[in-house]
Amino acid sequence: MIALGSDHGGYELKQEVIKYLEEKNIAFKDMGCYSKESCDYPDFAKQVAKEVAGGNSQYGILICGTGIGISISANKVKGIRAALCHDCFSAQATREHNNANVLVFGGRIIGSGLAVKIVDTFLNTPFSNDERHIRRINKIEEGIE
Ligand code: RB5
Repeated sequence: MIALGSDHGGYELKQEVIKYLEEKNIAFKDMGCYSKESCDYPDFAKQVAKEVAGGNSQYGILICGTGIGISISANKVKGIRAALCHDCFSAQATREHNNANVLVFGGRIIGSGLAVKIVDTFLNTPFSNDERHIRRINKIEEGIE
């Protein structure tokens, strides 16, 4: 299960991602927003991040205007590793190296053609399970004071 969330700045691109997931028969849950009306990105980051951190969804996809505010918000939730990716190399590397569990886009930055290729890369790239990457992720999870 993939949990989706956006604010108004990411709403249109989220609709394109939804179309793509439907075409591929990938199960998803759209946690809002549900129109282009102005809203607050932390509300949707929180819902999707909790859904993923709680284990109800394997991955999340979050979209705001830049992808930055919604990334900052999602990464406040323990267990979330949200990665803002506007290219396939980053999407592959963040799965292999960071075991990222939330993919983030800026809806005002990237087009839908590239975005769905990045979604595909992210969803189909496994974590490397390399000792050095596990060690680094564990350090993130311990918290950085
Ligand atoms: C909303 O106008 C915009 O600030 C938001 O979508 C996002 O880009 C914040 O980081």
